[in-house]
Amino acid sequence: MEIKTIGVMTSGGDVPGLNAAIHAILHTANKKNIRIIGITEGFDGLIDGKFSSLDLHAVRQAMDEGGTILRTSRSERFKHFKWRKKANEQLKSKGIDACIVIGGNGSLKGAEVFGREFKVPLIGIPKTIDNDIYGTDYAIGFDTALNTIVEATDKIRDTADATSRIFIVEVMGRKSGFLALYSGIASGADVIIIPEVKTNVADMLSYIEHNHKIGNRSMILIITENALPDGGLGLKKILDKKLPEYESRVTILGHIQRGGRPSAIDRMLANRLGHYAITALLKGKKSVMVSILNDKIKYPSLAAICDKKHSINKEMIELANRLSFL
Ligand code: F6P
Repeated sequence: MEIKTIGVMTSGGDVPGLNAAIHAILHTANKKNIRIIGITEGFDGLIDGKFSSLDLHAVRQAMDEGGTILRTSRSERFKHFKWRKKANEQLKSKGIDACIVIGGNGSLKGAEVFGREFKVPLIGIPKTIDNDIYGTDYAIGFDTALNTIVEATDKIRDTADATSRIFIVEVMGRKSGFLALYSGIASGADVIIIPEVKTNVADMLSYIEHNHKIGNRSMILIITENALPDGGLGLKKILDKKLPEYESRVTILGHIQRGGRPSAIDRMLANRLGHYAITALLKGKKSVMVSILNDKIKYPSLAAICDKKHSINKEMIELANRLSFL
């Protein structure tokens, strides 16, 4: 089937760099005389028939902004067949021949099921600050979030040093430690706690005491939100109980990690993946994700990447272990 009209949506949690991906999609499609229709608010918007036209100039203007001009949603309804059927009817009514879904694990899984059920040619583009999508080295948004954490941690270190306190910095990531591990290394954290590595609490407390004895008055402990029960606050409870002589504070960075202007690396990644999503569809590829592996564009099938976990490179874990307590 000849593809003339492509629908594009952003789905799941927003990340910086989504507008850059939309920009490359629109730009490449325009050059190939393909019509792009924006689907607003992700799968929920598709179910409800929320479409919008995209203007290249406006999209180019938004390329350096966070958020998404198409808005987004985490759709509960799309998990049910009756709503996916409705979504397919909406696509047909708009004359959309194929779709590009810019999403995280949940959205790519939804896209895989939808493409299979209704034979819709579909391409996924990976985005998530958690960087936990299998089949790609990096997802859009990770680099910017990492930079936000490092910048915040550098500032926290100033006050930690001035007051001789221990600061616990809780970062996002769900069950994935990429953000904590990479930001921990980049900001010289004393302790890094991630879900992938079981923390020996007694050893960690000895490390903190030893670190203090050798002259480190202040310390930075970076923890992934779900690495210990109650995340950063749980870690503070342990410190208060076991090392009451140390004063500590918790900073939960929260959603600032999802906002802001995308880094140059994220803009590059988003433009590359957006461009190749269009060329892949025009070459007849479907139900694949456009990804980056060893700096090369790849097209793993959505079925092959769903339900798998992107593991952290062992060398990175070893490095963190040498430079900090992990
Ligand atoms: O998956 C991205 C992410 O930011 C996670 O790191 C975090 O746990 C979650 O989304 C927060 O989701 P919400 O914005 O729905 O609270």
